[in-house]
Amino acid sequence: MNKSDATDDRPIGIFDSGIGGLTVMSELAKQLPDESIVYLGDTARVPYGDKSPETIIRYAVEDADFLKKCNVKLIVAACNTVSAVALDILKERFSIPVCGVIEAGAAAASGLQKKLAVIGTKTTVSSGAYTREIQKVSPSLEVECTACPLLVPLAEEGIVSWKILQGVLDIYLGKYLENPPEALLLGCTHYPLFTKEFDKFFSGRVKIISSAAAAADFVENLIENGSVLPNSGRVPPEHSFYVTDTTEKFLSSACRFFGDSITQAEQVSLTITEQF
Ligand code: DGL
Repeated sequence: MNKSDATDDRPIGIFDSGIGGLTVMSELAKQLPDESIVYLGDTARVPYGDKSPETIIRYAVEDADFLKKCNVKLIVAACNTVSAVALDILKERFSIPVCGVIEAGAAAASGLQKKLAVIGTKTTVSSGAYTREIQKVSPSLEVECTACPLLVPLAEEGIVSWKILQGVLDIYLGKYLENPPEALLLGCTHYPLFTKEFDKFFSGRVKIISSAAAAADFVENLIENGSVLPNSGRVPPEHSFYVTDTTEKFLSSACRFFGDSITQAEQVSLTITEQF
């Protein structure tokens, strides 16, 4: 078998602090319809976005360890907060390939010339990870990051009322209305739910870049360049969903994040069984 014929029918594993990573999984499933995907949402401990790096690292190791036990061929940290503070540690500790969403988001912003606004959770923003990654690929681009913590609960509650969102966006992004940035990078799993609202807020004058879509491009590229082998196509692809809290809330809200309903998920508890 030559290198280009090599295949791997193991699933891709993807995890998030909760339900938000379904925005990344949805993009992945669209771009890689032949791949099986295992999703883990740590719904019992969400949100991660206002927790300390130490706690997030511990949670992320437990999440990735669960996926490793599911025999995945790649671990995708869909959570921007995890990608911001725990990615290097995950890469060090796990022998399977691990990728996050920040490198992907930074790559998607690489053609920009002037000013990029990045929004994310408090921990993502205070980590400085987006600025560091973007400056690697676009050293002269001006990058400003803003934490928008209220947007996560609004997305989880399914609140899309323009009256409420306009007020909230005004708090965080009103500073840009007079002199808008070239693009707005959505550095949080939940923000793609408000893509239309961001566009409306800036009257279509600002390019919206989603780290979820960028992450799917990044994974597709890993498969295309042979870093991760593709499914053989002989085994029908499956999507499996695991959560750490009860499944009801996850199943009832999943459609908003995934774009399709999810009918089955399993509740699991995360325990580290392996010594690193
Ligand atoms: N998944 C998180 C992120 O993308 C948002 C939700 C949370 O705070 O856990 O940063």
